[in-house]
Amino acid sequence: MAKTNAGILGTGHSYPEGILTNADLEKIVDTSDEWITTRTGIKQRRKAAPNEYTSQFAVRASREAIDRAGLEAADIDLILCATVTPDQILPSTACLIQAQLGANNAAAMDIVAACSGFLYGLALADPMIRAGQSKYALVIGAEILTRYVDYTDRGTCVLFGDGAGAAVLGPVEEGRGILAAKIRSDGRYEEQLYAPGGGTKGGFSAETIARGDHFFKMKGNELFKVAVRSMADISREVLDQAGLKTEDVGLFIPHQANQRITDAVANKLDVDDSTVYSNIAMHGNTSSASIPIGLDECVEAGRVHKGDVILMASFGGGVTWGGAVMRW
Ligand code: ACO
Repeated sequence: MAKTNAGILGTGHSYPEGILTNADLEKIVDTSDEWITTRTGIKQRRKAAPNEYTSQFAVRASREAIDRAGLEAADIDLILCATVTPDQILPSTACLIQAQLGANNAAAMDIVAACSGFLYGLALADPMIRAGQSKYALVIGAEILTRYVDYTDRGTCVLFGDGAGAAVLGPVEEGRGILAAKIRSDGRYEEQLYAPGGGTKGGFSAETIARGDHFFKMKGNELFKVAVRSMADISREVLDQAGLKTEDVGLFIPHQANQRITDAVANKLDVDDSTVYSNIAMHGNTSSASIPIGLDECVEAGRVHKGDVILMASFGGGVTWGGAVMRW
């Protein structure tokens, strides 16, 4: 029997209508449009309304991805939802999405790997499909990060935004689809980006909430260095494994954390600037949603053609990082 690879058959994305601009932030915290723009490249980010929740955006993105793959929800047999901002602790957001989609033949679970979550999902679905364990897998990155941001902490609150992206994976002929995918972690860097409250260790009480323990805490400039190094290294690893060089890359979609991080990674890899995708000005950092939103935007804009080599790389809290290279 001919061997198969796992390829992306359809993509989708969705985000809230609410927009939080740098000018809005100037009114609530000691910052400026000039600082945010020059240090991060961000001009605005999407912000969910108080009555909106993560799975709503995930479901919209997923419906679009399933539709574009030419499938029905019942064809999906695996749902992996990457999120650090779930609807609730139990059940998983993936199960809530499974029910809303009516994906009645699917196993469903969440992946908690922060900004690397979508690439963790791709790296896990890939061998499942190649082994025939799954036929059609739905991999989602979905976040409402603005709920976990402390709007008195100017070092973090300017960075994060909300949204969801999804991709349906299925069998494609050998030589196409995912050519290499790698995921890594190093929990010794735990305190570079973490939220101590709400779990069995930090607990939850009126005091933890008053202290803001549930908000993200971040050592931004330390994370910056780890991000650049890890994304560049893993990009080289997946390209090597696929027998490709940076000049073969037709589109590079890095995790959208900071324009300066993107520029530094692209520079280290020596990829052609015209191949590097950036939407950070419009979305900020949407964590696990950033790569699938970027990919779907590129598909919609006609930037992706059959046979193109696409490189994706990410890093995030944990810390975690990952890379994947595919032929469209
Ligand atoms: N407005 C104005 N001034 C600010 C702001 C702000 N929003 N934020 C920080 N500053 C000030 C600091 O207080 C500091 O002032 P000081 O020199 O008087 O002490 C000065 O700007 C420089 O601060 P740095 O932290 O050194 O600034 P840096 O250039 O490193 O930029 C940033 C900070 C944007 C956070 C950057 O380090 C970064 O992007 N790091 C990566 C963070 C990241 O991507 N995190 C997400 C990980 S992915 C995930 O899993 C969700």
